[in-house]
Amino acid sequence: MAFAFYTSVCLALFVFENGALGKGKIRKFPENFEFGASTAAYQIEGGWDEDGKGLSIWDIATHTEPSYIQDGKTGDVATDSYHLYKRDVEIIKELKLDFYRFSVSWPRILPNGFANKINQPGIDYYNNLINELISNNIKPFVTIYHWDLPQNLQNLGGWTNPAIIDWFGDYAKVLFEKFGDRVKHWITINGAKHICFEGYGSDLKAPFLNMTGIAEYMCTKNVLLSHAKVYHLYDEHYRSLQNGSIGISVYCTWFEPASETLDDYLAAEDSKMFDWGQYMHPIFSKLGDFPKEVKRNVALKSAEQGYPRSRLPELSDDEVTHIQGSADFLGINTYTSRLAYRDASLDGLYAVPSFGDDVGAVFVKDPSWTLSQSNWLAEVPRGLYKLLKEVKRLYDNPSVYITGNGWSTAGGLLDDDRVNYIRSYLNALLDAVNEGSNVKGYSVWSLMDNFEWTHGYTEKFGLYEVDFTSPVKTRTPRKSAFIYKEMIRTKTLDPDYEPENFVEVEEKKIKID
Ligand code: BGC
Repeated sequence: MAFAFYTSVCLALFVFENGALGKGKIRKFPENFEFGASTAAYQIEGGWDEDGKGLSIWDIATHTEPSYIQDGKTGDVATDSYHLYKRDVEIIKELKLDFYRFSVSWPRILPNGFANKINQPGIDYYNNLINELISNNIKPFVTIYHWDLPQNLQNLGGWTNPAIIDWFGDYAKVLFEKFGDRVKHWITINGAKHICFEGYGSDLKAPFLNMTGIAEYMCTKNVLLSHAKVYHLYDEHYRSLQNGSIGISVYCTWFEPASETLDDYLAAEDSKMFDWGQYMHPIFSKLGDFPKEVKRNVALKSAEQGYPRSRLPELSDDEVTHIQGSADFLGINTYTSRLAYRDASLDGLYAVPSFGDDVGAVFVKDPSWTLSQSNWLAEVPRGLYKLLKEVKRLYDNPSVYITGNGWSTAGGLLDDDRVNYIRSYLNALLDAVNEGSNVKGYSVWSLMDNFEWTHGYTEKFGLYEVDFTSPVKTRTPRKSAFIYKEMIRTKTLDPDYEPENFVEVEEKKIKID
């Protein structure tokens, strides 16, 4: 096996060049291309129990099960954006971003999850943030759900309970009513794979349910129907008045076969369809419904395992039609790639039943890939190019925004590895755009360091460093902030640009002007 695997990796290297950035070659972004930066409510806001906010599954998990979090910390204060949002808008202005992608905290708006009681201070907070952005000419790009489910709703099964389709619809309606006059870009749900597989099928994200093979598929169906409900709500009742657009953000890993064998090719194909096709296919494909690979594998395994029906809940014809076409754009969160293979080493590797067993593939990182501070995140820009080409081919070239892409470090202002990563991914993006991919914009994860879920504050994704020990959570631009700002200013990708005014200073007083 070891020799076979070594040979596979060599073969894969042969067919999967890394898409390195050519020195000296300045490339232009399309005229209307837009740049942004992303955050999410629980990761930055703090103010966890202030002004009538209810509790989310992350509030409860970090308080009752701190052992789930690498440094035992919580998002109770985080970057304190609930109080410091004006400073956030200042740094967004410093960067001259076209848009800022942030999420709304469901329990800050509806403390018990239901729409019978609206928390006015929560409405005020987002009104202030949105108004501050707009008065500085920055477009708000708003995610309706980014993982902080009201605990009250989780007590009723959360995303595994079909009643959530109405609960989510009621919540979204409040946001359209209160903010839709000024918000023109909506994302219904961020990262269904993380919500469903990591939250319900494993213990990697709240609510840490860990019922793989069953719970993640129940969740997926409800996430898709919730998304579609809110799309249609907007389309039928708000679009004509508010003139905005609404999509979904899907997390994608690119999978490359580890060798040229048919088994490895099929392992990579199945992996893609389980990882992101499961969420994209029902919305963006011509046929609708779950990908055939997902339906086939789960049905076959379920039958072998003695289940009376497939563990993947069916979508009825009406549901297929309702979900199909329910997005004005596709948001893609993508960071990395894996090599996939399928051989005898799969025997006993995964629990039965499980998502891993249903996919039927082993995943590895190529030893040559550069690694970040996050053990899952390796730099493979060619993966973005291939992903964009595949999305264009499979889904009739939808409008795409890259809604999350970025690099983690252990900290420090001099972040050349982040600079290399962002440049090489944007270079790959431009390769795909030049071959016809319809990419409208790109948003870096993240504007500033924040609470990285179960990794706490140990992985820093920010263009701005945050001093979590300071009372004002001082935000200081890293080198990458200066480089990103220049890209936005010139609408070009210049691999050799070095910011003149950047010096690594200990006192961290750098300003961008
Ligand atoms: C998620 C963020 C997360 C980031 C890095 C993104 O896809 O939406 O919440 O912090 O990945 O892991």
